[in-house]
Amino acid sequence: MKNFSVKINNLELKNPITTASGTFGDGLLMNRIYDVGELGAIFTKGTTLEPRQGNAPQRMAETASGMLNAVGLQNNGLDYYVNEIYPEIIQLGTEIIPNINGSKIEDYVAVAHKMNELERINAIELNISCPNVKEGGMAFGVSEKGIAEIVREIRAVYHKTLIVKLSPNVTNIARMASIAEDHGADALSLVNTFLGMAIDAERQRPILSTVTGGLSGPAIKPIALRMVWQVANAVKIPVIGIGGITNGIDAIEFMLAGATAVQVGTYNFVDPLCTLKMLEEMSDYMDRHSISDVNEIIGALKI
Ligand SMILES: Cc1cc2nc3c(=O)[nH]c(=O)nc-3n(C[C@H](O)[C@H](O)[C@H](O)COP(=O)(O)O)c2cc1C
Repeated sequence: MKNFSVKINNLELKNPITTASGTFGDGLLMNRIYDVGELGAIFTKGTTLEPRQGNAPQRMAETASGMLNAVGLQNNGLDYYVNEIYPEIIQLGTEIIPNINGSKIEDYVAVAHKMNELERINAIELNISCPNVKEGGMAFGVSEKGIAEIVREIRAVYHKTLIVKLSPNVTNIARMASIAEDHGADALSLVNTFLGMAIDAERQRPILSTVTGGLSGPAIKPIALRMVWQVANAVKIPVIGIGGITNGIDAIEFMLAGATAVQVGTYNFVDPLCTLKMLEEMSDYMDRHSISDVNEIIGALKI
């Protein structure tokens, strides 16, 4: 009997395969296709205090080996999450981890505070790559001061597992990770999307209404893997790897680099069953390498 369960702080996941925020909705639609209770966890679409419409179309563009998105913070807001989504998703048989968003610290704090009261929510993921209006439009996640402040404030109100999702749009990801750890993060997830741009040469215009957007998918995998490896070597808390994972061996690579679990994002749009296949591929890999406990893979990279 193989062991697939991993621990993120005191949160036990039945296996390391989870789905990335914004690419799996709240899991309820996907549950009509397959039993999403088979997954280690579902990170739900970013929730803000108030409902948000997100950005104007066009909000997505296909790129070589990936996509750009500029969905913005579209969601129905905290009250809707608590009253309509929460009672349904806790039936799904896996850990539900809300991804929380905001544009000012007070809003983030209000969302975290409410999430702390939800009995069946054992962790939140703090997305700190959104524009901070108070700092002249700079993202919390790309400023050392910004990371320190927001993690500290959320830590003060959130008493369960706090996962901080890092922005890759920084020069020194290991330094940003250490700051989040020092101010109270229990775990880190990385990466979010890379700032990119797509142009329609015929119209001589940007494709996205916001001009720039977030690049995800296989195109970012080598950079994400490098960042996960750097961060895993810089912190003591668990790391969740994200970026261009399309199969079980991709997931294993992130774990070898030091990730305790992984999130699958864009590839859910290509193959909605990909996460289940990853679990099988991971199991085959373990058989081939005589590994009985998935934890043996974490950080096992030989250099
Ligand atoms: C359409 C779309 C929406 C996303 N929405 C969110 C979000 O609300 N919050 C967040 O933290 N990340 C969001 N992300 C980023 C993903 O969770 C993930 O970090 C990123 O896509 C990289 O993983 P991938 O290459 O497997 O897609 C979104 C990504 C996409 C493609």
